Amino acid sequence: MRNYLVTGGAGFIGSNFIHYMFRKHEDIRIINVDSLTYAGNLGNLEAVKDRDDYTFIKADIRDKEAIEKIFSENDIDVVVHFAAESHVDRSIVNPEVFVETNVLGTAVLLNAAKAAWENEDGSFKEGKKFLHVSTDEVYGSLSDPSDYFYETTPYDPHSPYSASKASADLLVKAYIDTYHFPANMTNCSNNYGPYQFPEKLIPLMINNALSGKKLPVYGDGKNVRDWLYVDDHCKGIDMVIDKGVMGEKYNIGGHNERENIQIVKTIIKTLQEILPDDDPRKKGISEDLITYVEDRKGHDRRYAIAPDKISRELGWLPDTKFEDGIKLTIKWYLEHKDWMDNITSGDYQEYYKRMYKV
Ligand code: NAD
Ligand code: TYD
Repeated sequence: MRNYLVTGGAGFIGSNFIHYMFRKHEDIRIINVDSLTYAGNLGNLEAVKDRDDYTFIKADIRDKEAIEKIFSENDIDVVVHFAAESHVDRSIVNPEVFVETNVLGTAVLLNAAKAAWENEDGSFKEGKKFLHVSTDEVYGSLSDPSDYFYETTPYDPHSPYSASKASADLLVKAYIDTYHFPANMTNCSNNYGPYQFPEKLIPLMINNALSGKKLPVYGDGKNVRDWLYVDDHCKGIDMVIDKGVMGEKYNIGGHNERENIQIVKTIIKTLQEILPDDDPRKKGISEDLITYVEDRKGHDRRYAIAPDKISRELGWLPDTKFEDGIKLTIKWYLEHKDWMDNITSGDYQEYYKRMYKV
């Protein structure tokens, strides 16, 4: 029986990871620690909440005492650290909380894990690992169209979000280099799939299209992101936990680059295909909804991951092609209207008005 401490498990990728792990493994126990910010939603975990091998603890990763208590009361084998402020637009408006959670919160977790796992001689107990989940955004923006992000690409973050993630990554590296702390890091490209909060491109566009609202495309719509179905990210993390060479970092991405405008047009086309003719929402869904709006400040032009290392060394390959993944995702949102209605009531409306000036 392996004990996993998942941080941020009520968010988009964390909750998908918990579902993924319970599908793939029988001999695990998961403790999910999450402070339930606007992005955390226990509704994502309805299907697992009553399992004997699952526990939810509401705590903030910045709360040293609460985190140390979790380590002292549980023999944690693996930390999978997702908890973060994750939205670039919010980081531009309010950078401080990004530093507090993403940098200081990571420091608290690293210290608690180190204290719990370290032997008297400075070595670490067998079988322990800290998996730090990071992003390709730490590498900055690619200008040469034939260029990719490798693990060796120098860090060049531009947004407060990516700068805070880069800082956390460097802290993890410092623990590896200084203490031989048992850790791995993964840097993944943009994820999409079920349970993603509708402030991010794909669920926002699906939700707006279904509500007949404008589809706000930043700038010229030609910024490129490299999209990966969330289960393929979870698969990569699981493989790095099991087989990753201690101290190494692994880029995760499926060579699936698209311009934002292509993504928006694909969502429109797929909705038109999937929705039955008698669905009243179908008539309003067309490219006429697309509206070009003011560009994001400091908007990174292109991200593209080279996943050569994780493929070559650990045998990871993505299972889901974008054409299939986007259909699965759109169908999931259509079948989970209650989830979306619940999430977009209240505070979300205020956020939307403020951010999009409508
Ligand atoms: P998310 O915003 O959907 O979820 C973040 C979760 O962390 C939420 O449940 C939130 O309540 C929790 N949280 C935030 N602050 C906390 C705190 N101080 N203490 C405890 N819990 C806290 O984010 P996501 O998209 O699921 O991303 C998860 C991780 O993966 C992040 O570290 C992000 O940087 C990384 N990542 C995301 C993507 C992507 O495309 N979404 C890509 C690569 C890497
Ligand atoms: P997002 O999902 O916020 O992810 P990230 O900024 O971390 O890559 O945005 C993806 C891309 O979509 C990014 O280039 C910004 C763009 N975008 C829009 O054009 N309109 C929107 O309303 C949003 C939220 C994003």
